[in-house]
Amino acid sequence: MNTNLAAAKRSPGDLFAPIARDLELAERIFQEKIQRREPGVSRLLHYLNHYRGKRLRPALLLLTAQACGSVTRAHHVLAAVVEMIHTATLVHDDVLDSASVRRHVRTVNAEWGNQASILLGDFLFTHAFHLSSTLDDVRACRIIGETTNRLCAGELHQVCEKGNLNLGEDDYLDMIQGKTAELTACSARLGAMYAGADTEVIENLTRYGTYLGLAFQIADDVLDLVGEERSTGKSLGTDLEQQKLTLPLIHFFSQASVADAEQMRRLLRTEGTKRAQFVRILEEAGSIGYARRRAHEYASLAGAQLQCLPPSEARTILEHLAERVVQRDC
Ligand code: IPE
Ligand code: IPE
Ligand code: MG
Ligand code: MG
Repeated sequence: MNTNLAAAKRSPGDLFAPIARDLELAERIFQEKIQRREPGVSRLLHYLNHYRGKRLRPALLLLTAQACGSVTRAHHVLAAVVEMIHTATLVHDDVLDSASVRRHVRTVNAEWGNQASILLGDFLFTHAFHLSSTLDDVRACRIIGETTNRLCAGELHQVCEKGNLNLGEDDYLDMIQGKTAELTACSARLGAMYAGADTEVIENLTRYGTYLGLAFQIADDVLDLVGEERSTGKSLGTDLEQQKLTLPLIHFFSQASVADAEQMRRLLRTEGTKRAQFVRILEEAGSIGYARRRAHEYASLAGAQLQCLPPSEARTILEHLAERVVQRDC
């Protein structure tokens, strides 16, 4: 295995070692911001302490900052903001998907119910907006507002297309651009912008974040089919259960015979169809392979955007990260 690949296969925890201290500072800001005295609320918020993910978005923000200059106090605040927005979307998403496991523990909806989850998501969104407004200039607020608008529109788009078995690849890409790539793009953009990078570099890094987000979500959609809950730490198969069409199925329907498409539609309508049954058919049709290839294409497009940066440790990690998001099993 070449050294690049070996590094890319390391866990994000290892890749993020050079920014470990910055991630910790961002986490502290996150925790301080959401403290409440009411015992019930405080217990619910305390649950988020066990609710720790890969921290991809804050890491992107801090690494792009480091690659463009240096990490400042504003970056720590913004890293907390993007993780807060991300966490809010996950809390809401688990309600939408009726998921029971997230980040290796029970989801907030499984533990506290849908009402508390909706309100906790809102609580996190509003705290993120307020936190970004504590910075002296308004650029971050504007970008975060726009990003969150598009993120919600992406989730709405997906919900409105639930059950549409004729969904095309363009619509799918539009959805994942909104629900996932907007926030990764925003993270990379803010990192570069608040490090004083020039316009061209900011635009390149925004594109890096976009392509990385697209690759990440396609890989996630493949994991929803072929992944293991033990490694991902979250409920899988929910896209099938919720009839949310993702790239492997979209590819399958685009090339299947009338009879094969009908068989697949029947399986999708049959409650209790096992994931393995879908996977076998999708593997045979080359649809899983197709989605994996598309994810790799976006990952290499992401890597190509980094050429504007001078060589540095942070740039190397950003390169590895683009490879890592499509090779991950969690
Ligand atoms: C999950 O994101 C939601 C998607 C965009 C697929 P992550 O996989 O980054 O979630 P955590 O933060 O590590 O739990
Ligand atoms: C939703 O996508 C991700 C968001 C941006 C909210 P998924 O539904 O695929 O996310 P997971 O798989 O539950 O993490
Ligand atoms: Mg989900
Ligand atoms: Mg998923």
